[in-house]
Amino acid sequence: MQEHELSLFKNWFYSHAAGCRSNDSEMNAVLDLKIKHTDFVCSNALRISQGLGWPEEQTRAAQIAALLHDVGRFPQMTGFQTFNDNLSCDHAALGVEIILTGGLLQNLTGKEQRQILSAVAWHNKRILPQELPKDEQSILRLVRDADKLDIMRIFCEYYAICRKRPNPLLEFGLPLSGKCSEKVIADLTSGRIADLADARNVNDVRLIKLSWIYDLHYPMSRALFLENKYIEKTLAALPPLPEVVRLGVQLTDYLKKNI
Ligand SMILES: [Fe+2]
Repeated sequence: MQEHELSLFKNWFYSHAAGCRSNDSEMNAVLDLKIKHTDFVCSNALRISQGLGWPEEQTRAAQIAALLHDVGRFPQMTGFQTFNDNLSCDHAALGVEIILTGGLLQNLTGKEQRQILSAVAWHNKRILPQELPKDEQSILRLVRDADKLDIMRIFCEYYAICRKRPNPLLEFGLPLSGKCSEKVIADLTSGRIADLADARNVNDVRLIKLSWIYDLHYPMSRALFLENKYIEKTLAALPPLPEVVRLGVQLTDYLKKNI
């Protein structure tokens, strides 16, 4: 695949996003956030794949997968006014449908098509299938890492202003204060990825996002997590309880030992 082909995908992506715009300025602002998110996920994906020394072709497939991973988000938001898959539709499955219906990947090799479609389909799933071919797994894991890193950026930027300008979209409709749940603390302490279903308040959600550290696959992703100070920024938005401070130290140590 040539460089100019990547820009064709970018052109398609921006016109797909533009096609979902309307006269609703609030909705347009949300869609703009998704465009910005995709841009950052693409640059994270590029940085991680270059750090891994991937060949150009594999890097390019990872970039296309990163670019297309959230295409389902745009019609999801305009159709259902939510990013909550449980209340609307599986945005990853919708993304695959959009890609296939549009024949977007028809000029790529069969291998590239498989890699990109499985990365889009599985990027939002909590449990991944064991039987995915290795070449699909490596691209999928990279997109998941790049995606998580940018979701952390979005939330950490929000934490800095959330008291003045709370955004219900980023609070999951949960109480804005409350004790951190023992189950969530126990999961993080034991090195487990915590489940959003266990969140009782926004503090739990913040901790659960930190547990994604255990789901990062590549050392470069962990290095970027450290470099961007996502642990410190999250802790600043949590009550300074001894167990929370201890977790911050534990998670930082884990990242440092695994980069
Ligand atoms: Fe995403």
